[in-house]
Amino acid sequence: MPATEDSLLPHLQAALDEGAFVNLVLSKYRGKESGLVRIDVRLVELRGEGHLSFVYKYETRDVTKNLSVAEGMNRLGELLGPEFKAGYLFTKATEIEVLYNRKGKGRVFPRQGPRREAPPTEHNRARVRMLDSGLPFLWELGITDKTGKVLPTMSDKWRQINHFLEIFAAAFERSDLAGRAQVRVVDFGAGKGYLTFAIHHYLRAVRGLEAEVTGVELRQELVQFCNRVVKRQGLIGLQMSEGDVEHFPLGETDVLIALHACDTATDLALYSGLQAGAQMLLASPCCHKQIRPQMRLPEVLQPVLRHGIHLEREAEMVTDGLRALLLEEAGFRVQVMEFISAEHTDKNKLLLATRRPKPTSRKAVRAQIDALKEFYGITEHHLEKLIDSSKS
Ligand SMILES: C[S@@+](CC[C@H](N)C(=O)[O-])C[C@H]1O[C@@H](n2cnc3c(N)ncnc32)[C@H](O)[C@@H]1O
Repeated sequence: MPATEDSLLPHLQAALDEGAFVNLVLSKYRGKESGLVRIDVRLVELRGEGHLSFVYKYETRDVTKNLSVAEGMNRLGELLGPEFKAGYLFTKATEIEVLYNRKGKGRVFPRQGPRREAPPTEHNRARVRMLDSGLPFLWELGITDKTGKVLPTMSDKWRQINHFLEIFAAAFERSDLAGRAQVRVVDFGAGKGYLTFAIHHYLRAVRGLEAEVTGVELRQELVQFCNRVVKRQGLIGLQMSEGDVEHFPLGETDVLIALHACDTATDLALYSGLQAGAQMLLASPCCHKQIRPQMRLPEVLQPVLRHGIHLEREAEMVTDGLRALLLEEAGFRVQVMEFISAEHTDKNKLLLATRRPKPTSRKAVRAQIDALKEFYGITEHHLEKLIDSSKS
């Protein structure tokens, strides 16, 4: 079918009127909002009325906005062209691509598509998970039963694993590692290996990479348990090693993961990743003990921080804030984001660091680190001490 100069909206309206609308994707974002990648639009029924549900897909999270069809059409008129260079409309029988030039003029490319069914419109449709719950290793690890049903006691853990994989996959896609055929990942303090197995599955089975994934764990019984599962399932490129992160010979490593490693073990893991030349570091710190006793409280904050819980949270924020800055100084782009905790505690933070292709100026970051330390009277941060020790 030939291209015509046009807009996507009349095609969308026709598809809605005929009940043929499946979904719409706005892509090639050129607006100013940081981290926004695309918007997926589908039809949902709210209070008996059809609405357009816009899912704003950011690099690390999704934001959903439901609008009436009329409001949604107006919003699409504002977005298509000025903010998104491309729109893809999928109907039951056609696919329509519209590309917008700099002046906002659209060019429509309709084509016959495979026959699709419109998805159900009930609002709270189950979320699509990164992992299929029928995977046998999930049953072996005690997350699902033999029929692939997630055990009620493991539903938080299941959500956490999937959320972690979503973050990991998005970061991996954007990193230099995406073009590699081989990748080496080390997971420090791997515990029962839930996330280690999940990462291995994503890299090997989903992305088809020659991934080598190693979990390092202190507790012998967990190491033996995981290695038995690896053997039974015939998983290649996955192993659990008994060892202490402090002395583990890391070798060249592309991705270093340390989730829920206690106190300065997180610093040690991040530092090991730096030394091993890792492109990506993922850490979910817990038990922030090192910085708190050093903190001198600025007078104006004393009435707030005299409450133990406030002080604890402040110390945690300062500790992780400094970690993020130290990694930036070392040439990484760092994001600090929410991470679902399996234990319903406030251990719900993830530091995601990806090495920048070109290092940026370190002077400004150093000034920020020094100012923060000065403000709180901090004399020693464990990660900084480790980094400094490698320079001397
Ligand atoms: C809270 S669990 C986290 C498990 C896993 N990373 C997760 O998030 O599901 C922490 C694990 O780290 C292990 N661990 C603690 N200190 C360690 C060390 N120095 N070296 C290796 N493993 C360690 C513990 O035995 C425990 O299994």
